[in-house]
Amino acid sequence: MTDSKGKILAVDDTPASLKLLTDILKGEGYEVRSAISGELALHSAITNPPELVLLDIRMPEMDGFEVCRRLKAQSGTRDVPVIFVSALSETDEKVLGFELGAVDFVTKPYQREELLARVRAHLELNRLRHHLEDLVEERTGELRESEKRLRTSLLDSVTALAATVEMRDPYTAGHQRRVAQLAVAIARELMLPEEQVEGIFLASVVHDVGKIQVPAEILSKPGRLSELEFRIIKEHPQHGFDVLKSIDFPWPIAQIVLQHHERLDGSGYPQALKSDQILSDARIIAVADVVEAMVSHRPYRAALGVDVALEEITRNRGVLYDPAVVDACLRLFRERDFSLTT
Ligand SMILES: [Fe+2]
Repeated sequence: MTDSKGKILAVDDTPASLKLLTDILKGEGYEVRSAISGELALHSAITNPPELVLLDIRMPEMDGFEVCRRLKAQSGTRDVPVIFVSALSETDEKVLGFELGAVDFVTKPYQREELLARVRAHLELNRLRHHLEDLVEERTGELRESEKRLRTSLLDSVTALAATVEMRDPYTAGHQRRVAQLAVAIARELMLPEEQVEGIFLASVVHDVGKIQVPAEILSKPGRLSELEFRIIKEHPQHGFDVLKSIDFPWPIAQIVLQHHERLDGSGYPQALKSDQILSDARIIAVADVVEAMVSHRPYRAALGVDVALEEITRNRGVLYDPAVVDACLRLFRERDFSLTT
């Protein structure tokens, strides 16, 4: 496009006027196509969009205003600058022309130099605009690319963090990953936006990271825990919050982790929050956590199985667990054939 001086479409129904116009432009080195009627101009512009249109107004059948209107209505020609070249010099006509999207007016009879100056200015302006658009597009692409890289490295770091806990606690190895799998499925079943689902995924993957501060022998102790041991275990959401709170996630990951053992009736821990005080993402992870834990083997008991887990959340639907989350979870297992991978 930029290798020629500019591709111009000249439109006029009077052959002499059209010839004068094209001669002047060609003499300056422009690549000029000419059209003797509105219909021909429209056809020519749509099949091969020029960089500029010089358009007569008074023409039989389709006048210049109509040609301009139609050019602006087509995506391929919408951005092509239109200059009206006309004997009409009434203000009303000019106003209408500008309203239709024309960039300029040249009144006949015109001075050669004036015509060329306006053509040059509008071609240049349009080229600059295109160049700017390309730059913005390029820049947006780069940003999207770097955001993708950032998210991948965020996920890598979070996964590494999760792995450190599971390394010390082989019995819950894979627990966080499976909770994440179920929590994400529930979130999608609830038709939550993908942006939010991503946050739920990350929070699930690290929800037990605070267990890093719980002595390994308590975590893997077979049999019942003493009251003191249980109290130590119950501190893990707070420890998790402390580990995560300084990381500037685009989601409230630390708060979600802090609240994943809270229950609707206030019987949860560590803050004994109730219903709406608990973040909706934490209410989703709570259900996913309970179901996964019951389905899996634990040091102190064998796996209880899906049916027992679903019974537990059904019995406590609206008491401990968010009813909508429970319903979504039940639908997943009963109607959508969902199963946890091992
Ligand atoms: Fe937990």
